[in-house]
Amino acid sequence: MKNFGDIEAVKNISFEVGSGEIFGLLGPNGAGKTTTVGVITSEVKPTLGEVVVDGVDVEERPLAVKKNIGVIPQHRSLDRKLTGWENVWVMANAYGVGEKEERIREVLELVGLSERANDSIRGYSGGMLQRLLVARALVHDPDVLFLDEPTMGLDPQARRAIWKRVKELNSEGKTILLTTHYMEEADALCDRIAIMNKGRIVERGSPEKLKSQGPGENVIKIGLEEVPSSLVREIRDVGMVSDVRVVEGSKLMELHIFSEKGKELSPEIVSCIKDDGMDVISMDVREPTLEDIFINLTGEKLE
Ligand SMILES: Nc1ncnc2c1ncn2[C@@H]1O[C@H](COP(=O)(O)OP(=O)(O)OP(=O)(O)O)[C@@H](O)[C@H]1O
Ligand SMILES: [Mg+2]
Repeated sequence: MKNFGDIEAVKNISFEVGSGEIFGLLGPNGAGKTTTVGVITSEVKPTLGEVVVDGVDVEERPLAVKKNIGVIPQHRSLDRKLTGWENVWVMANAYGVGEKEERIREVLELVGLSERANDSIRGYSGGMLQRLLVARALVHDPDVLFLDEPTMGLDPQARRAIWKRVKELNSEGKTILLTTHYMEEADALCDRIAIMNKGRIVERGSPEKLKSQGPGENVIKIGLEEVPSSLVREIRDVGMVSDVRVVEGSKLMELHIFSEKGKELSPEIVSCIKDDGMDVISMDVREPTLEDIFINLTGEKLE
């Protein structure tokens, strides 16, 4: 538990990450993900509770824990005046890494930055900076990695490059805790996920298990100008509909209908909408995603 004054950033939460796992904290802005990572990595002192990393109590022996973990913080803490190589050197030095030059060369090679190692990072792209952070977090060869929103703001190609690296690091035996508000990222990478909202864990499990726990086998997403509550009630009464949610989209209101069977928009639903004098502006039928599960749990959108 962590309070900042009156703000209850993280309430009573508890979870375990198994050795060798990729574990994800998935949640929207302000859910408490960074605060949770801060508490585990001993950057933030908890108001209440305890954290054990690899058998070591974080509050009792923070330095012992720090030696064994690598952290990629959400807000890039790189020195803009230095080159890529020098930024990694600062970290290697702080950790007392042996044969520094060799190791720095290795980690920069690993993230594909060897050729740009001696350039000032002022000229690095967002994806390059993120890869440099990965190199820096790896320089002392930690067993456990914390990645706080590792692909935030990156384009799809840079994002996939980071995903690939994360998977490789995991298959080399590193335990990884990552936070994200991208459901595709949690789905693609994590063995298990804890869904966080407003300082609480609202659900947890493997991506497959979470998606199968949803209220339907299909989601029919219908765009409408507005959604009267009478319409929601009428559609709920149509057979094979297990839940209906109204979600505010960027342009339209969206009606998310979770249906048990059948991929079609049933004639009953169409006539409910027509009877309310409304036109279907857009429609999309698909399998439930983690986003749907989140909406279903909280009534809010994830991203
Ligand atoms: N140092 C601080 N002082 C005061 N309030 C804080 C501090 N750090 C976090 N908070 C508050 O705690 C809550 C959780 O913030 P946190 O940064 O942990 O969320 P998050 O899930 O990481 O969000 P994001 O996706 O935006 O990174 C927010 O309400 C935030 O304003
Ligand atoms: Mg955060």
